[in-house]
Amino acid sequence: ALPRDLEGRRVVVSAGGTREPLDPVRYLGNRSSGKQGYALARVAAQRGATVTLVGANTSELPDPAGVEVVPVSTAEQLAAAVRDAAPAADAVVMAAAVADFRPATLAEHKIKKTDDMSAPTVPLTRNPDILAGLVASRPKDQIVVGFAAETGDERGSVLDHARTKLKRKGCDLLVVNAVGEGKAFGTDDNTGWLLSQQGLQWRIPLGSKSRLAATVWDAVGELMRQPGQR
Ligand code: C5P
Repeated sequence: ALPRDLEGRRVVVSAGGTREPLDPVRYLGNRSSGKQGYALARVAAQRGATVTLVGANTSELPDPAGVEVVPVSTAEQLAAAVRDAAPAADAVVMAAAVADFRPATLAEHKIKKTDDMSAPTVPLTRNPDILAGLVASRPKDQIVVGFAAETGDERGSVLDHARTKLKRKGCDLLVVNAVGEGKAFGTDDNTGWLLSQQGLQWRIPLGSKSRLAATVWDAVGELMRQPGQR
């Protein structure tokens, strides 16, 4: 039987990948399936938590039992939904792949090709870093968890980069996944490392996304039981 260690806790999980519209029919997107975030939400609910799951373009996935799902598409919509739910949460886990950039303008009509064989240039603008914003405005004792999808296969460089990211973002825990070439995105298995702001580091062996979710909630539960530790 699963532990009920999240009974009475309220958690927010973001999942999926944002889509940034370019014109009425096109968008910039990414390969996130939402499966890891859905596993996090499902496992948290099974362990007793009240869960809000903000899903970016995850309509293909079944809603996890007993979880409130808020569907969104763009980074700005995801930011608004997470900001609505976060103040009441004991923990926020940002598993969504949020676009760093969006097209600077949204064309009113479909962008058309012209006879001169020229191609348009698409100016981009930065999206806000939702995770960093959450950390900056969080209630005392709220646990914030980030995800980092890193390419590159040299262990040292991925972890060094992740440590720097953890410091910069200021979250309590960072899950580091190697992505690319069939790893993580869209698959049912996942692997990586879990890094804590205090400098602890756990290797997450290749296993199901539910297993990884359980490891994350174990670490979150540990931090919840020792408030003031961060
Ligand atoms: O910097 P990077 O995109 O690798 O950081 C990934 C983490 O930051 C994830 O937890 C993701 O949900 C979050 N993020 C965010 N807002 C962005 C970009 C990423 O909250 N604009």
